Amino acid sequence: MTREIAVADLTAEQAQAELAELAKALAAANTAYHTDDAPEISDADYDALKQRNAAIEARFPDLKRPDSPSDQVGAAPAEGFGKVTHAVRMLSLSNAFDAEDVAEFDRSIRKYLGLGADDPLTYTAEPKIDGLSLSLRYEGGQLVQAATRGDGETGENVTANARTIDDIPTVIDGAPEVLEVRGEVYMSHADFAALNERQAERGGKPFANPRNAAAGSLRQLDAEITRARPLKFFAYGWGQLSAPIADTQKGALDQLGRWGFSINPLTRLCTDIDAILTHYAGIEEQRATLGYDIDGVVYKVDDLALQRRLGFRSTTPRWAIAHKFPAELAWTRLEAIDIQVGRTGALSPVARLTPVTVGGVVVSNATLHNEDYIAGRDSAGNAIREGKDIRVGDWVQVYRAGDVIPKVADIDLSKRPADAQPYPFPTTCPECGSDAIREEGDAVRRCTGGLICPAQAVEKLKHFVSRAAFDIEGLGAKQVEMFYADDQLPIREPADIFTLATRDAANMTKLRNRDGWGAKSAENLFAAIDERRRIPLNRLIFALGIRHVGESSAQLLANHYGSWAAFEGAMTRAEVGQGADWEELLAIDGVGAVMAASVVTALHQGPERASIDRLVAQLDVQDVAAPDTGDSPVAGKIVVFTGALEKMTRAEAKARAEALGAKVSGSVSSKTDLLVAGPGAGSKAKKAADLGVETIDEDAWLALIADA
Ligand code: IVH
Repeated sequence: MTREIAVADLTAEQAQAELAELAKALAAANTAYHTDDAPEISDADYDALKQRNAAIEARFPDLKRPDSPSDQVGAAPAEGFGKVTHAVRMLSLSNAFDAEDVAEFDRSIRKYLGLGADDPLTYTAEPKIDGLSLSLRYEGGQLVQAATRGDGETGENVTANARTIDDIPTVIDGAPEVLEVRGEVYMSHADFAALNERQAERGGKPFANPRNAAAGSLRQLDAEITRARPLKFFAYGWGQLSAPIADTQKGALDQLGRWGFSINPLTRLCTDIDAILTHYAGIEEQRATLGYDIDGVVYKVDDLALQRRLGFRSTTPRWAIAHKFPAELAWTRLEAIDIQVGRTGALSPVARLTPVTVGGVVVSNATLHNEDYIAGRDSAGNAIREGKDIRVGDWVQVYRAGDVIPKVADIDLSKRPADAQPYPFPTTCPECGSDAIREEGDAVRRCTGGLICPAQAVEKLKHFVSRAAFDIEGLGAKQVEMFYADDQLPIREPADIFTLATRDAANMTKLRNRDGWGAKSAENLFAAIDERRRIPLNRLIFALGIRHVGESSAQLLANHYGSWAAFEGAMTRAEVGQGADWEELLAIDGVGAVMAASVVTALHQGPERASIDRLVAQLDVQDVAAPDTGDSPVAGKIVVFTGALEKMTRAEAKARAEALGAKVSGSVSSKTDLLVAGPGAGSKAKKAADLGVETIDEDAWLALIADA
């Protein structure tokens, strides 16, 4: 494409030729994006082509083509879908991989509810559909909104597309005023094969599997394309309801069925674990002939009153679990071993494979975990794979389970090339040359370069902008790499993202002058960055990329400390292994010594800490909003439970107290507001008495929270 010539210098002939080229390039980009769901150019490049086209047309109005891209209807790819905040969060499920995990699930539920092993407890069991979840909102019986799961809190508005799906009623008779139906959108094997055939005829890229095809089809900006793709929908649950629809899970599904939704016909009620496992085996047997993909069986406590008591952990319900089918396997050649350096400096070996299809997905990379795994031993030094090491050139077995990164599970020694050599794991960082060391008890070798290691810095930035962290539109992993390498407009640490967006005239010009960036894309990026200056505390803590601090730990820390100032102050004062701030950190349920040490250390390391401070100076960190605790008499109070509880288990008592806005601590201190002491209470009761902390028994506690 001849894009060097300034529009003002173009001759009419050049302009005409370029307009033709632009029309062709933009049409191809549209097809790749809208129809094939496989974009070939970046949104920024797309915008730049459109702008160039418009500028030429403005100068040569007579040369405007009848098929001018400026007149094309349909939203541009960059515009995307509107966002929808879910009234009730869309959660995921925890997984079970074998019968023992399922038994443990049942045991933990009984323990939580205080039920004995023989007390009756009924579960529903139904296939886990391998598609994508969708939440449908009906008001007054009319479908008013359909939204994808997104990050669970905010999804994409795909209402127009959902209306094209036959299994989704647009009007329901006799529904409560507000009814949110949740379920899975999927594509059948037959429809998937036919779609890929059509793609091939058009020279388009085939979809890797029905799930991708369903996702690509639902997320079409043009609903007419969705209409042409035969999507289906199974309802399995609900979100917000203005009135209950049943007392049991099964009853609710039956009601949804009467309202016109498809309910999976393999849904069963099971009264014990044996029945569950028998049904699982039956479904697994039928898996290949069902005509659509499933990746396991979901078990849910049937009684909705018990579901309510069990409630949720940070991202999953306690009352349900997904029992996954075993992984799929294939054999292929290991062509090379590459080392990737992660954000915490971990050197991760990656297998480069001769591409092979594993369970419908083409796999060309797989994880090799760490140097011990390659050498054929576990972290305790015991032999794995009968001690067989993994060498470049080996014939290897690749294993893939659901969304989990594929791994190399085994090797076939009989096919090992004669000249294959043991793999020498590097002892220096391949990215920055610093020493890579393995600390006592750590399975992983780590680069010691810290912030000077470009790989660590880039990975930290990628983590920083990832979906559960800052999630800045238009600034993904690819853009971060580009800006990191840019000498004019470098982003070397998170704070740089926000100083870049100060709209200083020089930055604007530099950005606009970059290949593929126009004034609009620069402005869009700055606006997206600005939008994230206001950030919830949990997202900020997660985004810092501290080792051992994942999304749910970040949430725990945020809930406990409530504000950046409180968190930062406590971590700065804390010393690993001692003192009140350390004890307070450890007393948070779900925070162990390893994570606690990692957080404290991260905030004490000079250069890292300085980088965090530079970042926070650019932000408006939102405090954790107190939960909607109504008239809770215990909101904000620090409560300790001790001794035996008789009406509910300790776990349930704690979850209920937290839902009412209390902070539950494991130890009594002068900050404790209330001690709930059952029979057998010992030293904590004594300490509370010494400190003058109010102490009540279980009945008084239940009376206190009865109306909350
Ligand atoms: S119940 C509170 N039931 O699996 C969680 N989920 O890993 C409610 N899925 O995001 C989920 N089939 O997209 C449930 N029968 C089923 C399902 C199912 C597929 C998906 C769903 C969810 C994911 C969780």
